[in-house]
Amino acid sequence: MAQDRRYALPTYTPTARALHWLIAFLVFIQLPLGLYMSYRGNEMITVNEKGETVKGIFDALTGVLYSSHKLIGLTIFLLIVVRLLYRLTQGAPRPDPSVPAALTGVSHLVHWMLYLLLIAVPIAGYLAISYGRYLEVFGIPLPALTEKNMDMSKEIFEWHETGAFLILAFVTLHILAAIYHKFIRKDRVVERMLPNKIV
Ligand code: HEM
Ligand code: HEM
Repeated sequence: MAQDRRYALPTYTPTARALHWLIAFLVFIQLPLGLYMSYRGNEMITVNEKGETVKGIFDALTGVLYSSHKLIGLTIFLLIVVRLLYRLTQGAPRPDPSVPAALTGVSHLVHWMLYLLLIAVPIAGYLAISYGRYLEVFGIPLPALTEKNMDMSKEIFEWHETGAFLILAFVTLHILAAIYHKFIRKDRVVERMLPNKIV
């Protein structure tokens, strides 16, 4: 009988699932890390040795947070490129036939928006640090891709921030959809992506 159920429920391959959860894990770290380090580096109010109030603190911890953010961001970029190539060559399991076509269409739109944003946001991050010459990661210099231009750097950081908030919005929608499938619609869509689940 287990055999029949396997045919009734096509799942994502172990490779597709591993990439999905690895990237999801890194994105869950990357978003709050970006927000906190940027707050710490630009906004946090502290008092220095002279008793003056300063905005933004760039100490060793802030440096580690920025380097970690760049490293994790570049890792996400590499993984999403691998995942996208895998997706485009290997495809995905056919949609669950119990789900209305309109809902499947919306879910595909959300998935492709996530792929697009997970490519565009790290590229924007890299261009912004290239224009601003903030190219160091744990003491190791990254190659500059552009000339120095602080106005461009500022502008692209704005895009980077907007893109990051769009990722947050689409991921929230995506997780709400998973909850809807699992607990309200009670279908087996979520099982397709669960780790180590060979149904
Ligand atoms: C999917 C990948 C990424 C996500 C989700 C992400 C997310 C974020 C977020 C939420 C912020 C805070 C925005 C703010 O409040 O101002 C931020 C800032 C920043 N990101 Fe990323 N980021 C990613 C990749 C990268 C990459 C690849 C780099 C560079 C190699 C990078 C460099 C930076 C820098 C330098 C800042 C600080 C900007 C500032 O201090 O004003 N990010 N990122
Ligand atoms: C609790 C968190 C999450 C859950 C429960 C979840 C669940 C799922 C499920 C069940 C699918 C398959 C949908 C289907 O077969 O129609 C899926 C696909 C997908 N998920 Fe997630 N996900 C989560 C987090 C994330 C995050 C953080 C990202 C990216 C930032 C992400 C990106 C994607 C993408 C791009 C697909 C499309 C896969 C394809 O190419 O067909 N997911 N997710």
